[in-house]
Order: sequence, then C-alpha cells, then structure tokens
Amino acid sequence: MRHLIDPMDLSVEEIDELLDLADDIIANPDKYAHACEGKKLATLFFEPSTRTRLSFEAAMMELGGNVLGFSSADSSSATKGESVADTVKVVSCYADIIAMRHPKEGAPCLAAMKSDAPIINAGDGGHNHPTQTLTDILTIRREKGRLNDLTIGFCGDLKFGRTVHSLIKAMSRYSNIHFIMISPEELEIPEYLRQEVFEQGGIEYEQVRTIDEVIDKLDILYMTRVQRERFFNEADYIRLKDTYILDMKKLKCAKKDLSILHPLPRVNEISVEVDDDPRACYFRQALYGKYIRMALILKLLEEAKV
Ligand code: NCD
Repeated sequence: MRHLIDPMDLSVEEIDELLDLADDIIANPDKYAHACEGKKLATLFFEPSTRTRLSFEAAMMELGGNVLGFSSADSSSATKGESVADTVKVVSCYADIIAMRHPKEGAPCLAAMKSDAPIINAGDGGHNHPTQTLTDILTIRREKGRLNDLTIGFCGDLKFGRTVHSLIKAMSRYSNIHFIMISPEELEIPEYLRQEVFEQGGIEYEQVRTIDEVIDKLDILYMTRVQRERFFNEADYIRLKDTYILDMKKLKCAKKDLSILHPLPRVNEISVEVDDDPRACYFRQALYGKYIRMALILKLLEEAKV
C-alpha cells in the first residue's frame, strides 16, 4: 500500500509526473470529472484547517467521488480516548483513501501502519506537510517555468513551520538552489534539518535576520506565519509574531519577477496592500493546492488497485 507521509516518499520523477497531471487537469477538467466515481475520501482532521481540508474535499468532488470525515478532534471518538490506530483501522473500512492531520509528529506514519487504505499526511505537528509542498512546487513551476536555478528566501517561523521543513527537503533535490533563511534566532530551522539536508547534502545556505538585506536577490520569497499553537509560552509568541511584515516599501528593491508565496493562513506578515501586486502568488497557490491534490488522489488510488 502506497502512502504519502514525508515529501521524500516521492521521487523527483514522480513529482514531475504529478505536476504534469495537475497541469493537464487544469487544462482539461472535464476529462477527469468522473475519474473517482464510486470512491470515497475520508478527511480526518484532529487539528484546524481551512485550505487543506476543503481543497482535499473539493478535489475529490471534482473527480466525481464522495467525501466523509471530521474537522476537529472534539467531534471524533478521540475525545473518548480512542487511539489514532483504532480510528484509522475503522475508517479504512469505510473509505478508499484517507487524508489525516494531527498535532502529534508521526501520527500519520503510525496510521499508515494500521490502515487498509492509502494515508496522506495533511500535516503532522511541526514536522511535515507533503501536500502543501506539492502545492508549493506546482506554484513555483507554473510561475517560474523551472524548479532549478532559483534563489529562495524562507521567512518567518522556520522552527515550527512544517510547510518550510517539507519544502526545504523537497527543493534540496533540484540543482542550483540557493537557500536563504530569514528568521530571528529563536525561530531558526531545527538542528536535524540543518544536519540532514544541508550538511549531509553538502548544500550551502545563508542565514540572515532581515528581509531588506536579501530582497534584491530573491526569485521566490516564502513567507510564513509564526505558529502560535506550537509555542510553550504566549509571551514569546507575542514578542516574535510581528518580526516580519512584508509591505510595498520592502518590495521596492525586489526583482520584477519575484514570486511571493505563503501557505496561508496569513496573520500580519504580509500587508494586504501587497495582494494586488502581480508578484503576490499566494491566492493562486491556494487554488493550485486543489489541482495537485486531485493528481495525488488519482495516483494513490491507481497504485492501490495493483
Ligand atoms: C499551513 C499548515 O497547516 O501548516 N497551512 C496550510 O496547510 N495551508 C501553514 C500554517 O498553518 O501556518
């Protein structure tokens, strides 16, 4: 049974195929309108979500399939003390494929060991978020026309941001990517990533404290929100939450073809005045999330057949 738990579960070739499939779905939606007729997707969300859950559900509906599930741990038997393993064992009797988000790192991996249906990790704590990564990569390829030769700035909460962790891993496999990490000292990328991705991969990266000192070099600026729910202490969150606010003034020295990405939700880190700038890609990015999830559902259901 094929699952998607970590972005590295997919080879670069498989990612290319998924991106091509998503492009084809965007160009010819009618061709796929009945592709999942009679199939069910379960969305098991033990943590809040807007885009990820609804784009999964919209994706399955646009493929002609059906959806079931829950959108908070409170409305599931988790409140009665049921284990993730038992929940998944049962749900995999009702659904053909399962998208699961959980606050505990590793929960979807455990679920995959027990499930009779493919499991898609829709975010596990501060760890991974592989379908956001596919969304981000599709956005980069559609906006830039390439996945090589890019200078990418990651800005904000690089410590707890799972979308950052997954995207760094995935982009480290393309050639000539220059990584620039923009964060306060307290929110730098975790040590394990520094070692596993940068040191072991022999990949150089820059670490800076301000957007201003690097903005003119960037092809991609990946903004993120400070992850309030992962802080141990509210005072630290309040101190750090507005460290970076991207506005039109900060974009003065940016390249004309910069692409500004954000997994959303945004809090204060991008001023709304930026939304009308053609370099702001984040709402298009949210739309692409639906198409790449359609491609992924098709792939995993196809592989589950054999
Ligand atoms: C992200 C997440 O859940 O990690 N949101 C999303 O899935 N688009 C980012 C975030 O919550 O900041």
